[in-house]
Amino acid sequence: MTAKAKKGVILSGMRPTGKLHLGNLFGALENWVRLQEDYHCFFCIVDWHALTTAYENPADVQKNSDEMLLDWLSCGIDPEKAVIFRQSDVKEHAELHLLLSMLTPLSWLERVPTYKEQQQQLTGRNLSTYGFLGYPLLQAADILIYKADVVPVGEDQAPHIEFTREVARRFNYLYEKNIFPEPATMLNKYKVVPGIDNRKMSKSYDNIIEISLAPQEIPARVRRMITDPGRIRKDDPGNPLVCSIYAFHSIFSPEELEKTAAACRKGEIGCVECKNNLAAVMQQHLEPFYLQRRALEESPGKLQEILAAGRKKAQAIARETMEEVRSAMGLASY
Ligand code: TRP
Ligand code: SF4
Repeated sequence: MTAKAKKGVILSGMRPTGKLHLGNLFGALENWVRLQEDYHCFFCIVDWHALTTAYENPADVQKNSDEMLLDWLSCGIDPEKAVIFRQSDVKEHAELHLLLSMLTPLSWLERVPTYKEQQQQLTGRNLSTYGFLGYPLLQAADILIYKADVVPVGEDQAPHIEFTREVARRFNYLYEKNIFPEPATMLNKYKVVPGIDNRKMSKSYDNIIEISLAPQEIPARVRRMITDPGRIRKDDPGNPLVCSIYAFHSIFSPEELEKTAAACRKGEIGCVECKNNLAAVMQQHLEPFYLQRRALEESPGKLQEILAAGRKKAQAIARETMEEVRSAMGLASY
């Protein structure tokens, strides 16, 4: 036990939808790795949330959960520092969701902006379901059951945290007990990573670089990236600002950035060389993740062990909160 007191409780979650990519790494995971040093962190694989859109193929959710856990662990989320667990392992989330549903006005759910947006974007799936409408309330249960003080999320999730505060307030008010603190939103500090086609990195654009990519496969992926299209010959002056290679340099080799930009603008470096330099630093940066992942893959049972330990710690707290909730509502506890 270190002498340094922790600053408070953090909870965050990620839906297991497939292999994580560099957008996830620089958008969320890097922050989590930092936060686990200073806060009591709960990191939750929200597999029930994934089911709200993947209910037709529920088997994938299990496989994706294991993949995501491997990704988390390989980039430094540490079960010694944070509680890592799966939402469906702690059934108390479902009980709290149910009880909160009794006091949550439908109109609050209907006006959450992600509800209509997602329904429009994810065409081809029927999302006029009860579970999908209740998505933010399940998220509120995830957060409130650990009495989280702070929730680190991307900007798109801010309305869900605001909604969580409203639900907490309503519960505390109705039962005249201050059970749930109102969680603060902590917007992830992130580095913008474009995909290899220079659009936002996203699985649906098929332009990602997986965190788990083997070092030997990195050069081929880098070669496919889009450079300044205005540069035909290698000594043409280039514009690094329209080049995805350059955007990656700014993340992976910030010390060399000015040099790279100047050489590009003066036409002193060819794109092939510039790509080779990038591939080399990316290999250096990502190789430890890859090795850690391989080590985990070779010790079967390890993931289950981590999840079992996480579940135990999470459940102990969730159960305590549920005792308080039932008691505040005047319900019998078993
Ligand atoms: N809705 C979040 C997302 O899509 C995932 C999530 C579920 C979450 N429960 C949470 C995030 C609790 C933070 C806290 O990214
Ligand atoms: Fe991009 Fe580098 Fe080519 Fe300039 S030299 S356009 S930064 S790849």
